[in-house]
Amino acid sequence: MKITFEKTTIEKLKSDTYLFLCYEDKKLFSEELRLIENQLKCSLAKISLEDFEGKEKQTALVYSDKYRIILSGLGKKDNLNLEKVRKATARGVKKAKTLNIKSVAIEILQDLTLKGVEIEDITRAQTISALLALYSFDKYYTNKKDKEIYKINDIILFSQYNSLGKYSGEIQEGIRSGTVIGEATNMARDLGNEPSNVLYPEVLAKKVQELAKLNKFSASVLGKAQLTKLGMNGVLEVAKGSKREPKFIIMEYKGGKKTDKPFVLVGKGVTFDSGGISIKPSAGMAMMKLDMGGAAAVVGVFDAITQLNLKLNVIGLIPAVENMPDGGAYKPGDVIKAFNGKTIEVDNTDAEGRVILADALSYASKYKPEAVIDMATLTGASIIAVGSVASIVMGNDQKLIDELIIAGDQTYDRVWQLPLWDEYDKMIDSEIADVRNSGVVKQAGTILGGMFLKRFIGDYSWAHLDIAATAMRTAETDYDPKNATGSGVRLVTQFLMNRNKKTGKNR
Ligand code: BES
Ligand code: ZN
Ligand code: ZN
Repeated sequence: MKITFEKTTIEKLKSDTYLFLCYEDKKLFSEELRLIENQLKCSLAKISLEDFEGKEKQTALVYSDKYRIILSGLGKKDNLNLEKVRKATARGVKKAKTLNIKSVAIEILQDLTLKGVEIEDITRAQTISALLALYSFDKYYTNKKDKEIYKINDIILFSQYNSLGKYSGEIQEGIRSGTVIGEATNMARDLGNEPSNVLYPEVLAKKVQELAKLNKFSASVLGKAQLTKLGMNGVLEVAKGSKREPKFIIMEYKGGKKTDKPFVLVGKGVTFDSGGISIKPSAGMAMMKLDMGGAAAVVGVFDAITQLNLKLNVIGLIPAVENMPDGGAYKPGDVIKAFNGKTIEVDNTDAEGRVILADALSYASKYKPEAVIDMATLTGASIIAVGSVASIVMGNDQKLIDELIIAGDQTYDRVWQLPLWDEYDKMIDSEIADVRNSGVVKQAGTILGGMFLKRFIGDYSWAHLDIAATAMRTAETDYDPKNATGSGVRLVTQFLMNRNKKTGKNR
């Protein structure tokens, strides 16, 4: 699908379907309708308009003699913010899609500039939300017609006011970066939704290498033999119960100066988490094909930043495994020597994410990173803590955490901080090894996941994003589908864009 900006006046747009975003305010609404009728030289059916009040979540389809007009509610003007614009845009394009409309012209919600939001950010947000809302994972339906799967081919962004023409550079940039980020998020969703009999560590590694060829980064893959040589026993042990070999994927993007320290992104790549010998209940287990959401997010961020040409150096590390029960599987009570030499007592084979991340986080030290950010669907407890509204952030550098919180607010791919206080540390002490992979008492599950990882980090700034709550959904929202959401892609890309802006200014 293509998204473009048309500078021309609205009646000259070659579209027969328009999406307008409307306030919950009778006066403003009737003014807007009059404007639409004047500009499009048409008259709208009055009766259907009486049913629509511009409330959030409301949409209406109104016909004139020449056009289809889709109205999508923004709620009260005083409460307007970027997220309401994203949601209203998303609902509007979904309405068009269900009608099998192929091309839609969307109004740019210029009013937000009155609240200090830049026009580039508005168009980026509308572009992303339209792309995200129109996502579907339908490759396995053999009869797409019966499933009523429709696709929109073109989206045109336009302004009702000609005054926007002078910002056309900013608008184009918003659309361009928005398209890159929206498509990168959708790619992460595709990786997540792919069933685990199709996407296992080797396939994930191949997909990353294919992407590297298309984009400006390099990718190498360590297999079982190299992992054994290196002593990456966390990765090897977790993978032992599976027929699928583990892979350790290394991505390198050199957008910055040679001397710039790299950002290292680490993603949990468990292509299926059965729980292993500490097996999970069967209800809902299918969702655990999405336990590589962190890895998918790292790949998505790479797809985005390499196309955005950020002037930064970035490394991506993905330990990829399948966690299965088997005669050869790792077991509760086992002790593993991780890459950095520390020993881990396996209390629960279902706490596998932290075991593979232990290796990856200590491996990250070799890059002398500017900062390390890991993304992982690590704990069910994070879903209990914040629901599917936010990811959890923890770490050892408050400045880094604050920057992630800001990037989360900017993109609405939000994060909420939990503490890593010393008091929690003894809760993962082991009687037999340096650390246990699950808590002695069943408390603070998400924090203990973070405390465990903290034992394996090197001398660097670090933030851990537990994305278990956001990476997978059991129900659709305005612009997230059911199943894989691609959470983390918008967040970390925005964080890196912000850093890119800063270093650009300092040079
Ligand atoms: N992949 C799961 C976490 C998860 C659960 C993600 C539900 C998304 C939805 C992880 O490997 C796991 O099983 N964690 C355990 C840790 C426990 C055994 C200490 C958990 O959260 O129960
Ligand atoms: Zn698990
Ligand atoms: Zn897991």
